[in-house]
Amino acid sequence: MRHSAPVYQVPGAGFFIVSRYADIHHVLGHPEIFSSRQPPGVDTTVQDDVKEILSQGYPPMDTLLTNDPPVHSRFRALVNKAFSARRVATLEPKMRQITNELIDRFIGAGKVELVSQFAIGLPLTVIADALGVPRSDMDDFKRWSDDAVAQIGGMIGHQRQLECAHSQIEFQHYFEARLEERKSAPRDDLTTDLLNARLDGIKPLDVAEMLNIIYQLLIAGNETTTNLIASAMMLLVRNPDQMRLVIEDPSLVPNMIEEALRLESPVQGLFRVAKAASEIGDVKIPEGARLAVMYASGNRDEAEFPDADRFDVRRANARTHLGFGQGEHFCIGAALARLEARVAFETLLTRMPVIRLAAGKNDFAHTPSFILRGLRELHLEFEAS
Ligand code: HEM
Repeated sequence: MRHSAPVYQVPGAGFFIVSRYADIHHVLGHPEIFSSRQPPGVDTTVQDDVKEILSQGYPPMDTLLTNDPPVHSRFRALVNKAFSARRVATLEPKMRQITNELIDRFIGAGKVELVSQFAIGLPLTVIADALGVPRSDMDDFKRWSDDAVAQIGGMIGHQRQLECAHSQIEFQHYFEARLEERKSAPRDDLTTDLLNARLDGIKPLDVAEMLNIIYQLLIAGNETTTNLIASAMMLLVRNPDQMRLVIEDPSLVPNMIEEALRLESPVQGLFRVAKAASEIGDVKIPEGARLAVMYASGNRDEAEFPDADRFDVRRANARTHLGFGQGEHFCIGAALARLEARVAFETLLTRMPVIRLAAGKNDFAHTPSFILRGLRELHLEFEAS
């Protein structure tokens, strides 16, 4: 598609697929033409009984992902204040502790299913800790997070939609109470930071906005980071020469992570809607057209990444990938995700210096989704240090 129809209108579906690196940059760089104001998923129909459940909670609203400047800019500035580099850096010691605790549970076995025993737990526990959710509430927190993500892939049935709607309301009640508690008893956590985020001349966030933003952190942050950790490990064990380079020189871990984001982009693409008629290359885009902007394809564009299908932990420009998007909506959690993945691999590769695929157990199946790319399972055998 990148070679013969880089801006391709899907027959029947009507939307355009944008697949070249430079064209994706162009679309993401022009939010005044290509709007984010629509649901990121594929199936946007919501049935009445699902709506009925959702009507018991705060109304849905556009905050970050599905908003455009200048309204988006207010949310972004306030959330940036809460999600500061300082806040992310303070999480590192706890992150190392969580990483080691997860590894302690399987290190004696010499084998692990990395997705369920490690890659899910790490981001979930880190964000729960950052928000100030106690361990005793983790099962609920995990369910809310899973149900939040399930809604965006566009591939769930009606019964699951009902469950997800119930979850969303439970989540709102829970965090509404936590926000209320922090008004009189502030804590050193992200929830308090959101509550207290202030900027000159900008209206602070209200409760409905904060709930929506916290929900979006779960949707955008957990499964994506899980998928990054699992696919980076898959790439390493399937490319033993690259694994050896990283083990011999752990300073390559950050670039290895960028290379994994490039090759196995956890967010394969998202949608935009044309607010005005325009052109991309020689293709006319009418006003109102929907565009699927395929970051994962841009990340394998030979014009930007020579020998693009090769996993090269020393690739000089790996970090220019589009795995975190670009422009106004560039992932607000990128620093957190990068840190989590770095801590994960520094610790895993130190404690398990010999890792290989468990024979006959891996089919490398991925979870069905048009948007997210994630390995279902990754069975490994290893020798501990
Ligand atoms: C490897 C992990 C991650 C990947 C691949 C990823 C990917 C992305 C991408 C591609 C976007 C851009 C969306 C667009 O173009 O419209 C985005 C935005 C966003 N991400 Fe991430 N993300 C990751 C981790 C996180 C984490 C850990 C958090 C928070 C805890 C987070 C929160 C967000 C939010 C709130 C936005 C919306 C920003 C805005 O619209 O201004 N993400 N992410």
